[in-house]
Amino acid sequence: MTTATDSEGGTLAVEIWRGKDAGQFETYTVPQRANQTVLDVVTWIQRHAEPALAYRFACRVGVCGSCAMTVNGKPRWTCRTHVSKVAGEGALRIEPLRNLPRLKDLAVDMTPFFEKWQRAQGRFTPTRTRNDPLTTVSPQSAGRKAADAGIECINCAVCYSACDVVGWDDGYLGPAALNRAWTLVNDERDGDRAGVLKAASSGGGCHSCHTHGSCVEHCPVGINPTAGIAGLKRWSIVELLGGKLP
Ligand code: SF4
Ligand code: SF4
Ligand code: FES
Repeated sequence: MTTATDSEGGTLAVEIWRGKDAGQFETYTVPQRANQTVLDVVTWIQRHAEPALAYRFACRVGVCGSCAMTVNGKPRWTCRTHVSKVAGEGALRIEPLRNLPRLKDLAVDMTPFFEKWQRAQGRFTPTRTRNDPLTTVSPQSAGRKAADAGIECINCAVCYSACDVVGWDDGYLGPAALNRAWTLVNDERDGDRAGVLKAASSGGGCHSCHTHGSCVEHCPVGINPTAGIAGLKRWSIVELLGGKLP
């Protein structure tokens, strides 16, 4: 156990996962500060007690999506999670995100997460060049409203880590990739919306979702992937029955 020596107030008992799949929790005592975030705690440990501790962050302000970890059993963006909200009796247990391969300590390999975005065809297909006039999309249109509701995803994989179906089915695309697909099938500027719908509703796609809403509960920016996935289910069935799904 490593003990803090510069504490002016109370202390936190912080368990941190060290290692890869094989490893153990190490306990550190960290000074408690006002408005301290979980990422502040991890950074304190790395700077003062465990220089080799591996973890990931970039922006520190909830934009880049890189700092997600499992905190006291729940996936969270650690730079915007205040210790006072989650530490209970002054204890924290911090682990890597679930459902992703572990690299070292708190860092996971995000490759499967982003490969599933590719499988869901989560990329915009342009129909115009930079020389063409801009397309105007009415803010009042149903498609624009649906796309707007899901567009602020920061790719943090918190929902992916919270999803039980991802946990038991490696092939499931997961809430974030399907949310991205939903924004694209609603984007009238996209040149291959039928292709996106097909990719998002094929094997491992939207029809594998069990609609239990854990992704909604945990998404730190308030996105509702379950609603988008339900939309993909409805839309793909209508297109299938109409013989329009390629
Ligand atoms: S609603 Fe669907 S995508 Fe969201 S956590 Fe549940 S199974 Fe996963
Ligand atoms: S939908 Fe929410 S929880 Fe999932 S990756 Fe995007 S921002 Fe993170
Ligand atoms: S460090 Fe960028 S979202 Fe937390």
